[in-house]
Amino acid sequence: MNNVEIKNAKVLIGGKFEKTAVYISDGRITFSKPKGKSDIIDATGALVLPSLFDIHTHLRCPGQEYKEDLDSVTKAAVHGGYTDISSMPNTSPPADNEALINYIKLEGAVFKRCRIHPFGTLTLGSKGERLSRMGLMKKAGAVGVTDDGKCISNGTIMMRAMEYADTHGLFIMDHAEDHDISANGVLNEGVVSEKLGLPGIPEIAETIVIKRDIEISRYLNIPMHITHVSTKRGAELILAAKKDGIKITFDVTPHHLAFTDEDCLSFDTNFKVNPPLRLDSDRTFLIDLIKKELIDAIGTDHAPHADFEKEYPFDRAPFGISSLDTAFCLLYATLTVENKIPLEKWIGLISSAPRKLLGLRPSELEEGQRANFFIFHPKNEWKVDRKTIYSKGKNTPLQGKKIKGEVLYTFNNGKMVYPF
Ligand code: DOR
Ligand code: ZN
Repeated sequence: MNNVEIKNAKVLIGGKFEKTAVYISDGRITFSKPKGKSDIIDATGALVLPSLFDIHTHLRCPGQEYKEDLDSVTKAAVHGGYTDISSMPNTSPPADNEALINYIKLEGAVFKRCRIHPFGTLTLGSKGERLSRMGLMKKAGAVGVTDDGKCISNGTIMMRAMEYADTHGLFIMDHAEDHDISANGVLNEGVVSEKLGLPGIPEIAETIVIKRDIEISRYLNIPMHITHVSTKRGAELILAAKKDGIKITFDVTPHHLAFTDEDCLSFDTNFKVNPPLRLDSDRTFLIDLIKKELIDAIGTDHAPHADFEKEYPFDRAPFGISSLDTAFCLLYATLTVENKIPLEKWIGLISSAPRKLLGLRPSELEEGQRANFFIFHPKNEWKVDRKTIYSKGKNTPLQGKKIKGEVLYTFNNGKMVYPF
């Protein structure tokens, strides 16, 4: 393989942008010109950034390949700047055993685009009743456990599951939702749900479980991660618990930072997601926490669905936004362009932070490190449409819209994995 020289770019090194050439030699990064021939990439005006890690991707495989398959999800990932994704186990059947964890790891690697770090379920079949085969899943390569998509409502089972997961050194992630309270709600409960005459999901459906989880984590002294926190109140509870020394962490999604329940007034089912889009006061509060560096990670909650499913009326369409292709661009538009938060201040939330949470090796742009990075042009514009996104799930609210900022190239272990 030839060496690669990337010239005229600004490179994010140790949290600061530097104008320097970067080279790939033997799959590794170097800043001094290697011997031999190089393929040259002129990256004038572009940024070289450490590759991204998504802590929350709904894989759909096995069993729901009509929504997404391993070819399309790995394409969507590298198109979005991700070389690593953590898969959610709410597949069909749910990933609650070592055979499925093995399948996901091995089959996902076939495409040689990005790494898949599977989560297994906390309970068998994600039914919230009996514990899954955590020890064997860990041996097969699971990085964590979650019943995401659902929440374990029985506190005793949650405690036993956490103790068991902790024994095996598995990262524990919870989808905080009281299903009795959210019931048949389809969007945030408030003025908008009233206007639309649709059943709402009140914020307390999230916060009541966050409070319970904080108490369980405190009582057992076991770390716990709350995923896709959507409310100001939920984030406040977690921040207060952290101050008390409780080992609790949380992530937020790009869509909860970019959109609000008002967007549902369009009846566009691509805004239907769980937890639901909340109020602008929730959204701006979460953005403020990013400014203050108080959020632990950003996870996409990439949830692809087929067109025919999202074409149902709002109350019957499934929850979920297809996100991997566009997450970074949406974050750039929301956090940097709109809210003036420098990219170097938040990119760690989707690159080094999730890796650290899961106890994996960091991936930085440093001499001698594996060449895992992407090249992003902040000024280029592209149109999001059925052809320009690679996920099989075309269910993004950005569908048909122009977006500023484009991923030009993604490198994984020194190999150019995007463009294809
Ligand atoms: O919107 C969502 N979609 N939220 C979830 O928690 C699950 C996900 C899915 O699997 O479609
Ligand atoms: Zn979830």
